[in-house]
Amino acid sequence: MYEKKIAADIFWIGVNDRTTDLFEGLWPIERTGISYNSYAIKDKKNTVIDLAKAFKTDDFLSQISAIFPLSEIDYIILNHMEPDHTGVIKTLRMLSPDAEILCTQKAVQMLSDYYGITDGIKIVNDGDTLDIGSRKLSFHTVPFVHWPETMVTYDPQTKTLFSCDAFGGYGALHGGLFDDEYPDIEYYEKESLRYYANIVAKFATPVQNAIKKLADVEIECIAPSHGLVWRKSPSRIVELYSKWAEYGKTGGDKGITLLYGSMYGNTEIMMNAVSDGIASTGLIPRTFDVARVHTSYMLPALLVNKGVIVGAPTYEASLFPYMSVILEKAALKNIKNKTAVYFGSYGWSKGALKKTLELTEPLGWEYIETFEFAGGPTQEDIKKGYDLGRKIAEAVS
Ligand code: FEO
Repeated sequence: MYEKKIAADIFWIGVNDRTTDLFEGLWPIERTGISYNSYAIKDKKNTVIDLAKAFKTDDFLSQISAIFPLSEIDYIILNHMEPDHTGVIKTLRMLSPDAEILCTQKAVQMLSDYYGITDGIKIVNDGDTLDIGSRKLSFHTVPFVHWPETMVTYDPQTKTLFSCDAFGGYGALHGGLFDDEYPDIEYYEKESLRYYANIVAKFATPVQNAIKKLADVEIECIAPSHGLVWRKSPSRIVELYSKWAEYGKTGGDKGITLLYGSMYGNTEIMMNAVSDGIASTGLIPRTFDVARVHTSYMLPALLVNKGVIVGAPTYEASLFPYMSVILEKAALKNIKNKTAVYFGSYGWSKGALKKTLELTEPLGWEYIETFEFAGGPTQEDIKKGYDLGRKIAEAVS
């Protein structure tokens, strides 16, 4: 076995997951994978920060053993209780019975609920420190980034922030650990945005609060629990998270996400007319067929772009079902303050527009125009669609 260092006496002991299809049972990662980063600090008191999913447990434990014997772990710091970072704790507790678990008060009940662990726990509060020999680690609560019990751990000696979910991203690691080792950093930034939109977006205000709270902490390295370790440009991932969190208030940048579904091509004809109208202004929409693209890939575009077009027919007196799914996800993830339009075809009953407005009402989307048409669009309808495209493009410019 060999060591993977992030500093002189800090080691990466994570695992890469390249076989799980759906992260959280929801979000596709079959093409990207994900890493569960975990760290070991070899000091007077041997310390492990965050763990991993109960997955490749033998590999995970072997990596700890390469740094120090499992029986010689003094502290296990659990920044966050979600099982992708704690799944191996039951096994580790059996093998390291004397290791003390450090976590926030809110994590204690979760340790019992998930794993039946009720003893050997030390509760840490915001600002507490832990002397492990050559350094004093400090703990900073960041509630709801991602769960209410979450905290981050800071090592003042190396100026490393162990940030758990915060500043994380999808994408398994391919040998290197650090941002400066990857020539395709844009890939990881893009997968960080998808991760943010899928996992963290609901908690935009807690993200902003956490960034504010940590503003005075001198950080030279951000070591999250998913994705790259940011040692060259830790400020880059903070800026990105900050920008994405701000979209919850501003509604996003100039750009349009075009969501559409079509049963027999009539709504698609209108969608093409609307797209042509948008393109005539110099803008190109990000277009998604909601029946064929997973919501995971639509959410980042919805988050980033100020404009949203909902183009979907009525289905059984309600909205085309796959459109309901993405609008429900947008509501769940607090994708707020958009400039929107709706269009769609109906047959024997209307209903899609009513359902669209109902689903997005809590999000403060401003509809600058909506229209439903019976059956196939007339030439007049198509011209209306073209003008509608121009209108929303101008509204978001
Ligand atoms: Fe990566 Fe909220 O767990």
